[in-house]
Amino acid sequence: MPDYKRTLVTSALPYANGPLHVGHIAGAYLPADIYVRYCRLKKRDVVFICGSDENGVPIMLRARFEGVNPQEIVDRYHAMIEESFARLGMSFDYYGRTSSAVHRETSRSFFRKLNDKKQFITKSEDQLYDPEAGFFLADRFIFGECPNCNYEKAYGDQCEKCGSSLSPADLINPRSSITNAKPVLKKTTHWYLPLEKIQPDLENWINQQSHWRPNVLGQVKSWLDAGLHDRAVTRDLPWGVSVPEEIAEAAGVEAAGKVLYVWFDAPIGYISATKEWAQQQGDPQLWKKYWQDKDSRLIHFIGKDNIVFHCLIFPAMLMKHGDYVLPENVPANEFLNLEGQKLSTSRNYAVWLHEYLEKFEPDSLRYALCSNMPETKDADFSWSEFQARHNNELADILGNFVNRTFTFIEKYFDGTLPPKGQLDALDGELVARISAAGENIGRAIDSFQFKEASRHFMDLARFANKYFNDKAPWKSRKENISVCATALHLCVEMTYALGVLMQPVLPFTAGKIRKILALDERQMDDWEKAAEFPLAAGHRFGQVEIIFAKIEDEKIRTEIERLQQTTNAETSKAEREQDSQITIDEFAQIQLKVAEIVAAEPLKETKKLLKLQVQLGDEKRQVIAGIAGFYAPADLIGKQVVVVSNLKPAKLRGDISEGMILAATDADGQLSIISPDKKIKPGSAVK
Ligand code: MF3
Ligand code: ZN
Repeated sequence: MPDYKRTLVTSALPYANGPLHVGHIAGAYLPADIYVRYCRLKKRDVVFICGSDENGVPIMLRARFEGVNPQEIVDRYHAMIEESFARLGMSFDYYGRTSSAVHRETSRSFFRKLNDKKQFITKSEDQLYDPEAGFFLADRFIFGECPNCNYEKAYGDQCEKCGSSLSPADLINPRSSITNAKPVLKKTTHWYLPLEKIQPDLENWINQQSHWRPNVLGQVKSWLDAGLHDRAVTRDLPWGVSVPEEIAEAAGVEAAGKVLYVWFDAPIGYISATKEWAQQQGDPQLWKKYWQDKDSRLIHFIGKDNIVFHCLIFPAMLMKHGDYVLPENVPANEFLNLEGQKLSTSRNYAVWLHEYLEKFEPDSLRYALCSNMPETKDADFSWSEFQARHNNELADILGNFVNRTFTFIEKYFDGTLPPKGQLDALDGELVARISAAGENIGRAIDSFQFKEASRHFMDLARFANKYFNDKAPWKSRKENISVCATALHLCVEMTYALGVLMQPVLPFTAGKIRKILALDERQMDDWEKAAEFPLAAGHRFGQVEIIFAKIEDEKIRTEIERLQQTTNAETSKAEREQDSQITIDEFAQIQLKVAEIVAAEPLKETKKLLKLQVQLGDEKRQVIAGIAGFYAPADLIGKQVVVVSNLKPAKLRGDISEGMILAATDADGQLSIISPDKKIKPGSAVK
């Protein structure tokens, strides 16, 4: 990695249309926060930017769903998301929102610049328009019958039943989901980013990014191999950043209702938020250093569904604008599943961050997600694994080590740091491990291998815990107090190192440790000095506190049950819809009886039907059955079957049928007659 003077880190701007869940956190937020906290400890110049994505169709859909206006939606969810982030310990330098005035101006002038440089093309075409609502309909606002599976509520871009991707023109009998009106075609003009033309430049640039994650490069290359298509960067929508009026007018286009496509303005949100941050710093031009100096490094943390926008489209915009640096890396994560199933916002199958934070500690989630991050393949979040990570690792290893160290010191060394004497081999190993740890963990974080960083960290704590056991200070206390004091002293040095090195992943726990050590913030904020213990013998510690209480099974069970209820509610709803239930009384109306076949012959001029004579107790009946393809008449004589005996007689091809024989059929078209398990008197009732 070449030397960079400063780093700008971004996390994907979450749509302000709903709360965050653990999948979001594992994808774009936690890894970024770990990385940034690490950079700060390394004394690098780093700025961490995020904000709410408040434009576009996703916001409008939510507003429509709730029956309120979009402003109410973004205000509510922006506040909620910002608060949850803070409680999780996300340490953004600035959290903005794309409804801000600075953002509006920044994205409009970005658009102007590309337009002035003739980087757009315009295209006019017919698009679906809602004549009652008076605006053009985004694909999502059109529904109709799916041409593939005939599902009646398929969207203009996708059928949620069969999963096929559609365009509005594919729908049978399309309707506006705003007014239910039949959409009409109307001419409209849009600005396009000519990606077909830009592709060679992008290819050139992508080819220099061999240090990117293979899964990111893989996805990018498959887009490039398929060939990029020109992308419209404007939309006809009543919500969003409006296209600069003078540009619309110059193109002879009605400016009202013409907005920037949300994926055009949202990434520019990173720039606007950096500007707002700079203003807040009292140095309004400061943002330029991070975005425009060649020795600045731009890193986008995102989930894999955002790869094309961050690795191709936004870079194309930046490239053609000309004033900006391009991303140096885009460490996109894969998806996080939940208890083996896909997370789903609409089905409420998720662990919602704000709900989690009501019940558990932020660091437990940070640790569980970091240890099981979907870095190069999808990962699964399960509550029992979460519990195990917390109880068996955080509490039993890390927490236990810190707790026994300081309890012992409180009890036998008056709560002050014991002096360090001669070191033996095991002491030496502990010291060596402390000095190697910073580099090992740091190397992993620098290469975005967060799982590995967490493993290194917990290995260090595990060693510490074992060291305490092996040293058995409760024995050496009586045999050789200097050996005992040295061991405890080294345990404190270890605690200090752990306290520094845990900060990226466990910031709240690090705070607790700092309090126990009775240090001020500046004494524990340098990664390079994790092994440079700052305290002298006699230093008085703070109160010992339990840093991790165990999570009880009961608490975990409640969470698992809640998820199961979500799944069950869906299954039983589906069942109700599919096979409608009947009462026992309704069932009793059908009279089923055992019958014995006494004669069988093909029915004249048919291929499928057999004419059977059956004995039902004293009574004999004729039944016509569609089983000729499966049974030879002779094989049926003497066979006992079940018939519906109170079925109204019917005429089939001129012959009377006085009942129906029960048979099972499977999906492959096989048929099998239902017979009593053993011989029973003909005429016996079946129920
Ligand atoms: N809001 C988008 C999503 O949740 C992400 C926007 S990222 C940005 O998928 F770059 F556009 F800001
Ligand atoms: Zn379909």
